[in-house]
Amino acid sequence: MAISIFPINADFAAEVGDIDLSQGIDEVAAQAMRDAFWRYAVLIFPAQSLNESDHLRFAELFGPLETTIGSFRDDVKLRTGDKIADVSNLDTNNQIWDASSRQRMFQLGNRLWHTDSSFRHTPARASALYARSIAQIGGHTQFADLRAAFDALPAARQQTLRPLIATHSIFHSRAKLGFHEFSESERAALPEVKQVLVRKLPESGRESLYLASHVSGIEGMPSEEADAVIAELTAHAVQRQFVYTHRWRAGDLVIWDNRCTMHRGTEFEDLRWRRDFQRATVADTANSVELMQA
Ligand code: OGA
Ligand code: MN
Repeated sequence: MAISIFPINADFAAEVGDIDLSQGIDEVAAQAMRDAFWRYAVLIFPAQSLNESDHLRFAELFGPLETTIGSFRDDVKLRTGDKIADVSNLDTNNQIWDASSRQRMFQLGNRLWHTDSSFRHTPARASALYARSIAQIGGHTQFADLRAAFDALPAARQQTLRPLIATHSIFHSRAKLGFHEFSESERAALPEVKQVLVRKLPESGRESLYLASHVSGIEGMPSEEADAVIAELTAHAVQRQFVYTHRWRAGDLVIWDNRCTMHRGTEFEDLRWRRDFQRATVADTANSVELMQA
């Protein structure tokens, strides 16, 4: 099977064609997809027609799956299996949520620049998001290339950032939105974790910033200074030359490398349009601090 690759930028974001992900995928095609993934960090597969098991089978080509955080929540009945994150604006009855829905407040966090699951000890390597139905306007997803952002920093700055260790917490990003109501069991299930601030990607040898709205501090640095460093690096990383904006079509499957990109969802009228998106998430091999020490 020979897949086709249409780059959007030289080394960031590419469309992939001549592959039907609902059919069996041979090892040649799987390896070509992995190679493209390590290079472009964001791959778009248009016009797919996938059920949950096709979606999971595709994601597993990139590594073992992680269990969705919906399963750590006390209040959420999953509309999907526990390996699929429900990124829709629908409730368990398949109706658009209402304005006071807790799920709605929680998902507002996706509007902040972030990388998936960096608040877990073993963070996500890849996320594969599939659009079943889309908002008629708005509801795009933006991606920032944190490898290019790192490369663009002065060498002396790169050198000072390399040894730094950040702390990440989901409650930090949710608190930014004024959302503090978590039960003790929710907090206990997701304690703050350490991640490196600069990663080296084994497949390409490239270095990358590792940033997210979940970053709550930098070890050994006063918190005001850490907040300023993170705010400045984030502003640098999301400049337009590093950003690809994906305008969804129903049937798009987009997979991204969480180790070297940030993403965020853009606004849409979520009480009006059904936006039914589902995500399968591939876990990394270990915590990023452990990987660096290995
Ligand atoms: C995600 C996410 C943003 C969006 O699925 O991890 O952040 O646009 N999605 O739905
Ligand atoms: Mn996300």
